[in-house]
Amino acid sequence: MKRLIRVSLILVLVVLVGIQFIPSGTNQNPDVTSDDFVRTFNVPENITALLNVSCYNCHSNNTAYPWYSKVQPIGWLLENHINEGKENLNLSEFGTYSKRKQKSKLKSMISQIEKDEMPMASYTFIHREARLSQDGKRELTSFLNSIRNSLK
Ligand code: HEC
Repeated sequence: MKRLIRVSLILVLVVLVGIQFIPSGTNQNPDVTSDDFVRTFNVPENITALLNVSCYNCHSNNTAYPWYSKVQPIGWLLENHINEGKENLNLSEFGTYSKRKQKSKLKSMISQIEKDEMPMASYTFIHREARLSQDGKRELTSFLNSIRNSLK
């Protein structure tokens, strides 16, 4: 029995070490193309800054990874979040969306922010700086509303 426990522990250790060599963290394309949300709508700097801090890490093609993203399986979990976030809303490719899709995504962004659903609580728990203040929320949602209304 003791031997079995020892062998199992060694196996777990080997697996834990082994998975460190399987990389994650490939979502790094810093070029801001003309299809990026901020270029599609000529977004002013203060709004761009809010989006960068609170949304872009999960909803764009460029993530600023924390050091612990190199530790597996944490890195894979982060990657999962990013992939899921991007699938729902990719701000780097917003300009490629149809007008109709852009409008519906804008509506959804506004409601997610107003309901405090986004940025995700599990994220702001660690990334305090990503939390939106009341002023930040108001600024951001009123800007998003103005774009939404300008889309015909
Ligand atoms: C930690 C990563 C993360 C951050 C930061 C984040 N999101 Fe998300 N977001 C996700 C994930 C994952 C989903 C999909 C699952 C879900 O809805 O919970 C999602 C879903 C959404 C959706 C739903 C898309 C749809 O089809 O309706 C919207 C809109 C959205 N996010 C907007 C935002 C906005 C705006 C911000 C910044 C204020 C933000 N998110 C910040 C990860 C994130």
